[in-house]
Amino acid sequence: MEEHLTVGRVAELTEVSVRTLHHYDEIGLVRPSARTGAGYTDAVAHLRRLRGLLQEQRDRAAAMVRSIDRELEARAMGIRTTPEEQLKVFGAQLYESIGSAYPATRTTEPRIAARIWEALGDARTVLNVGAGTGSYEPPDRDVTAVEPSAVMRAQRPADAAPCVAASAQSLPFADQSFDAAMAVSTVHHWPDPIAGLREMRRVARRVVVFTYDASTTGWLERFWLTRDYLPEFADLLTDWPSLADMTRAIDGHAEPVLIPWDCADGFFEAHWRRPEAYLDEHVRRAVSVWTRVGPDAEQRAVSSLREDLASGRWAERNRDLVALGAAELGLRLLVA
Ligand SMILES: C[S@@+](CC[C@H](N)C(=O)[O-])C[C@H]1O[C@@H](n2cnc3c(N)ncnc32)[C@H](O)[C@@H]1O
Repeated sequence: MEEHLTVGRVAELTEVSVRTLHHYDEIGLVRPSARTGAGYTDAVAHLRRLRGLLQEQRDRAAAMVRSIDRELEARAMGIRTTPEEQLKVFGAQLYESIGSAYPATRTTEPRIAARIWEALGDARTVLNVGAGTGSYEPPDRDVTAVEPSAVMRAQRPADAAPCVAASAQSLPFADQSFDAAMAVSTVHHWPDPIAGLREMRRVARRVVVFTYDASTTGWLERFWLTRDYLPEFADLLTDWPSLADMTRAIDGHAEPVLIPWDCADGFFEAHWRRPEAYLDEHVRRAVSVWTRVGPDAEQRAVSSLREDLASGRWAERNRDLVALGAAELGLRLLVA
């Protein structure tokens, strides 16, 4: 006979409140095997899952403490870290501060979603890594989401897939436990993209990643925004892995993804034919690039763009774009 414990007893044993256990149940992390008046739950399986979750949280907290200590030591010695180094140190913390602005302009672009879902093939179980608020999660498959930022997790719709608090570089799942793993617009936030991609490969038979190619010569010049207004973008990608290294990590290939002129998902390049959009604070706040380059670069870029739009200089320089329906700005679908 299966051993059962009351939810109260589980709370006592794990030192996690009954309220938190109910929350874990609601978000699909720890589901009771049976619901009776007394609230019985399958002790062994659920304690194991909970233990793994708590261990993972403890490891992440310990890693954060170590990072903060290193940052404090560096500051005590008068060494100031760059925004990029800070991002490496604090990782998902960025989304704890900017995440609430995300849903304003970040939504599913159906033409990109169609490409991603096609690449998932016949996968039934899908892991969505760096899932954010759940854009691009296929509605007709069994999705499990992974998202380290509590702010982002809290903004997932009530009927979105269950979401686990974890990071790409250490996925709390057994080898080959999903038919497919997907990651959309997130790899550039991972402290170790190659390790994260290898993790995806480890836990899934198929891997689909929507990301950016910064290794092609002249990439800074291919988008007018980075070329003419925000060259600081280059600093954010100094040790970004090459496309070849990323495809190798998943043992796959890369396919270009053109950005439609009216792209619904407001990521950095999305408004390439709608330059006025970049003057809008809401558009910028939903894209981490603008926070990462810092307020000085942001204000300079925006003022300069505003002037060029008013004077007609932008239109003159970019007159070829008006006739384009979609642009190749380095976005890639990696498929394995
Ligand atoms: C630009 S959002 C993309 C969200 C979603 N995939 C989408 O397409 O809307 C980037 C997400 O990556 C998450 N992230 C940051 N560091 C991560 C890591 N190490 N592992 C997994 N996800 C991470 C952030 O918290 C954020 O939700």
